[in-house]
Amino acid sequence: MVRLSIVSALVSGLCALATPVVKRASLQQITNSGISNPTNVGFYMYVPDKLVTKPGIIVAVHYCSGTAQAYYSGSPYATLAEQYGFIVIYPSSPHSGTCWDVSSKATLTHNGGGDSNAIANMVTWTTSKYGADTSKIFVTGMSSGAMMTNVLAATYPEMFKAGIAYSGVPAGCFVSSSGGVAAWNSTCSQGNSIATPQQWANVVKDMYPGYTGARPKMQIYHGSVDTTLYPNNWNETIKEWCGVFGYDYTKPTSTELNTPLSNYYRYTYGPQLQGIYAVGVGHSVPIQGAEDMKFFGFSV
Ligand SMILES: *[C@@H]1O[C@H](CO)[C@@H](O)[C@H](O)[C@H]1NC(C)=O
Ligand SMILES: *[C@@H]1O[C@H](CO)[C@@H](O)[C@H](O)[C@H]1NC(C)=O
Repeated sequence: MVRLSIVSALVSGLCALATPVVKRASLQQITNSGISNPTNVGFYMYVPDKLVTKPGIIVAVHYCSGTAQAYYSGSPYATLAEQYGFIVIYPSSPHSGTCWDVSSKATLTHNGGGDSNAIANMVTWTTSKYGADTSKIFVTGMSSGAMMTNVLAATYPEMFKAGIAYSGVPAGCFVSSSGGVAAWNSTCSQGNSIATPQQWANVVKDMYPGYTGARPKMQIYHGSVDTTLYPNNWNETIKEWCGVFGYDYTKPTSTELNTPLSNYYRYTYGPQLQGIYAVGVGHSVPIQGAEDMKFFGFSV
């Protein structure tokens, strides 16, 4: 009997898999928005056929060498948009090598005229055009896109309600001492930019001086054997957001083993911060779409 019910559960699981949600609409490039776009970031979006009224928005930010098109094809967000009715904005980096600018003063400043500003302007335009629900505006990204996720959370805290960073570095860690745009920073990439939670919190706060409002809750993924952005970047990112939120990074409020996958450890530091450390995983941690939907509040 027990065995039978397991089999029937498996069969119904398979039936569910046999009728997957598919992308119906397509990726569109927005060329006539009229937004201020000082660095000429490509503006692409996916509006699902099943758009809900007052939709949410997820900004999905690609990795180095990626494009909006590549992240649209290679990540689950458009399919999930069809299921949950939100809009996905896919910005496309304008820089050679197509890493995001997470190093210049302009991009590391609220309304500073860099890539972060261009992306925020896309969100504002989309919110107004589609009557989006401003309590459901989120950002996620991988690698360079995860760096930008942390930068957007720091520079536009009033805009985003949550962010999920897959294998990035702390906001401000890639800063270029010579003001370089989209510059690589080996000190940071190799995990040697080390600061206290308070110092990191000041880096974040200096990106939007005088801001005292709410800030997005954050979820930070990293692999323990990442040799592109060394794993200590996870620890430093946790210190950064713990500093911002006033949490003790040495004392997570809960530690869940094998969550959401085997050998992943989920640490919760407070209501606004979770870190997921993926033991044995390199660069980058694979996107956990169903988990993202829970963290953003689209599913339970
Ligand atoms: C790299 O970033 C660190 C902060 O993480 C900064 O102190 C350093 O000056 C940067 N290096 C260069 C070459 O810009
Ligand atoms: C970073 O945190 C992980 C997970 O708690 C831990 O295993 C690792 O030793 C830490 N790294 C450093 C350099 O403290």
